[in-house]
Amino acid sequence: MLISVEMPDSADAAHAYLRDGALPLGGGTHLMAKLDDTAGTDVRLVSLRKAGLRGIDAEDGVVTLGAATTLADVEDDPRLPYLSPCVRSIAAPPVRNLATVAGNLFVPQPYGDLAAALLALDAELDVLGADGARREPLERIAAEGLPQGDLVTRVRFTAPAPDTFRFHKAARRRLNSGSIVTVAARVMVEDGVVADVRLAVGGLTHRLVRATGAERALLGGPLTPRGRRPRGGGGRLRAGRRRLRLGLVPRQGLPRPPASRPARGLKGERMPSRIVTLKVNGAERELIARPSTTLLAALRETLGLMGAKRGCAQGGCGSCTVLLDGRPVVACLIPVVTVDGAAVETIEGQADGERLSDVQQAFVDGFATQCGFCTPRDDHVRHRSARP
Ligand SMILES: Cc1cc2nc3c(=O)[nH]c(=O)nc-3n(C[C@H](O)[C@H](O)[C@H](O)COP(=O)(O)OP(=O)(O)OC[C@H]3O[C@@H](n4cnc5c(N)ncnc54)[C@H](O)[C@@H]3O)c2cc1C
Ligand code: FES
Repeated sequence: MLISVEMPDSADAAHAYLRDGALPLGGGTHLMAKLDDTAGTDVRLVSLRKAGLRGIDAEDGVVTLGAATTLADVEDDPRLPYLSPCVRSIAAPPVRNLATVAGNLFVPQPYGDLAAALLALDAELDVLGADGARREPLERIAAEGLPQGDLVTRVRFTAPAPDTFRFHKAARRRLNSGSIVTVAARVMVEDGVVADVRLAVGGLTHRLVRATGAERALLGGPLTPRGRRPRGGGGRLRAGRRRLRLGLVPRQGLPRPPASRPARGLKGERMPSRIVTLKVNGAERELIARPSTTLLAALRETLGLMGAKRGCAQGGCGSCTVLLDGRPVVACLIPVVTVDGAAVETIEGQADGERLSDVQQAFVDGFATQCGFCTPRDDHVRHRSARP
């Protein structure tokens, strides 16, 4: 059970809570959905929302992503076009507006699509640990896990040269679907042959892996278009496929999952209820909330706004969607104490008295409401994208 959510204003303060046994909370799109599984154990969280870890730098070809940078921030940044196909393949906008870069590194497979892209880009992590700050290759942490109590503060990588980075995710559906297999590749071709290559593969085992066998097969040969046999009757291609298989599935069996980042039970003080102030549909509202009170519960049960619904409570259906500081988010996964002071717009806030907004009117005119349960999601997302 969630007994406390701390809101430190710096990375050092956040790290101090982690050393005391709490777990880091990024956007909560994985962790919050798992809390039901921890019934009977006490869980303490440290929200990174206000810890100064959000932001993107891209100077002199080196990109630095703050750990709490959202996937939507990455998607919107014109300096990172090569990451767009990856980020857009992850969930839906109301999840991407919450989900963070560091959170994506520690979700279990078959999630972790951005982590696959960052592994192919040979990213390094800035980590605060028991002995202070250190820098570690993502590859090592993907293989060994992060020690309990350590905090990732930044992710760094060298921006790929134009047209050298590729990302492909095979999924059951085109949108909002976990991966069957994710492949990210940085490939440098010189004089018609592959001079350097890093391939990362997700979705196949418990953890992300580098497909070193496939890398070796590609090195030194021409990069032939899909479906075209290389000169030599396809022997190199067949050998590459075989090595890919061998590189991905070690003979001794699948690697064990890293031991870090379980949603473990922790001992600690139960945090008292707090006063939270929100600007809801333009009006200041105050409420008293427990650490485990979600934004959705606060809106419905305390403020009596029933427009946002509780469907899955897992971030998947979107029927709880509201605008948080102007962006659609799933309210079921947000501890309300972490958004103290924010502006929230619910579906009730879109109409002007009896006059419906253009988007609401378009829904009525087009008979688009169906049973009405998920209408807040569709309405908010379309309202925000201004494409009714
Ligand atoms: C409907 C739905 C669909 C999804 N689809 C996809 C998908 O297609 N692809 C995909 O990759 N993911 C998907 N996800 C999973 C998840 O949303 C993302 O991976 C997201 O990036 C997780 O980020 P977060 O900030 O919300 O993580 P959180 O839930 O906050 O945290 C996840 C883990 O990371 C740890 N953590 C967070 N920040 C740090 C830090 N700074 N240092 C150390 N540890 C940290 C947490 O303690 C926790 O163990 C989906 C989720 C939902 C709800
Ligand atoms: S996404 Fe929040 S209830 Fe389904």
